[in-house]
Amino acid sequence: MLISLKNIHKSYTIGSGSYLALKGVNLQIEKSEFVAIMGPSGSGKSTMLHILGCLDTPSEGTYHLNGKNVGTLNDNELSTIRNSQIGFVFQSFNLLPKFSVLDNTMLPFLYSDVPKNERKKRAVESLEKVGLGSKLDNKPNQLSGGQIQRVAIARSLVMKPNIILADEPTGNLDTKTGDEVMDIFSRIHSEEKATIIVITHEPEIAEYTDRTIMLKDGLIVNDTKSA
Ligand SMILES: Nc1ncnc2c1ncn2[C@@H]1O[C@H](COP(=O)(O)OP(=O)(O)O)[C@@H](O)[C@H]1O
Ligand SMILES: [Mg+2]
Repeated sequence: MLISLKNIHKSYTIGSGSYLALKGVNLQIEKSEFVAIMGPSGSGKSTMLHILGCLDTPSEGTYHLNGKNVGTLNDNELSTIRNSQIGFVFQSFNLLPKFSVLDNTMLPFLYSDVPKNERKKRAVESLEKVGLGSKLDNKPNQLSGGQIQRVAIARSLVMKPNIILADEPTGNLDTKTGDEVMDIFSRIHSEEKATIIVITHEPEIAEYTDRTIMLKDGLIVNDTKSA
C-alpha cells in the first residue's frame, strides 16, 4: 500500500475558535493508481491533498506513506520526502516570470543532490514529455495558459516522483486545453507508472482517471472505481 490514511482529522484555528475541515478520513491508495478527488468547494479537498503531500500535518489520525508513519518524521525528513517522492501541480501555475521555461523546470534541483550535469538533461527530457521541447528559452509570458501548465507539469516530473498531486490543474483552462493537460497526465500515468491524484470540479476531467473519491463536509462519501 502506497498511501494509507486512518481516521484523519484536520482542524484550523480561526480566532478563538476552530474549524474541522476533515472529520475522520480513511483512505488507501495503491502504487500507480490514477485518482480524482471531487466535492463541493470547502469540502476539504485541498486540505487532504496538503496532508497527502506532507505540506501539512493532521490534527488527529495516522498517515502511512510507503509503510512509513509520516507523523513520526521531523521537518527535514518531511522535506526530503516532498522533494524526492512527490511532484506538485497547482491551479495557479507558480512559474517565475523572469526565468526561462528551462530554468523554471530546473527549480526543484536547487534543493537536491542531483549532479549538475544531469540537471539540464532531465529538465529537457521532462519538457519533451509535455511537448515543449522547442520552448526551452521562452519566458512564461510568451506561452499560452495551457503551455504554462505543461511547464508546471514538467517541473513536477524532474525529480522522478512516485506521486503526482495536482490541485485543480485545469481550473484556469478552457475545455480543450484542460483535455490536453489530462492527456499528459494519462500518458505519464501509463508510461511512468506514477501514482497521480487530481482534484477537480469537473466530471469530464475525473473521467480520465480510474477512481473517483467524493468528499463532502470533510468526509469521504463515495469512492468508485471505473470499470
Ligand atoms: N488555513 C486555513 N485556516 C482556516 N480555515 C481553513 C484554512 N484552509 C482551509 N480552511 C477551511 O477549511 C475548509 C476546507 O477547505 P479546503 O480544503 O480548501 O476545501 P476545498 O479545497 O474542497 O475547497 C473550508 O471551509 C476552508 O475555509
Ligand atoms: Mg481547494
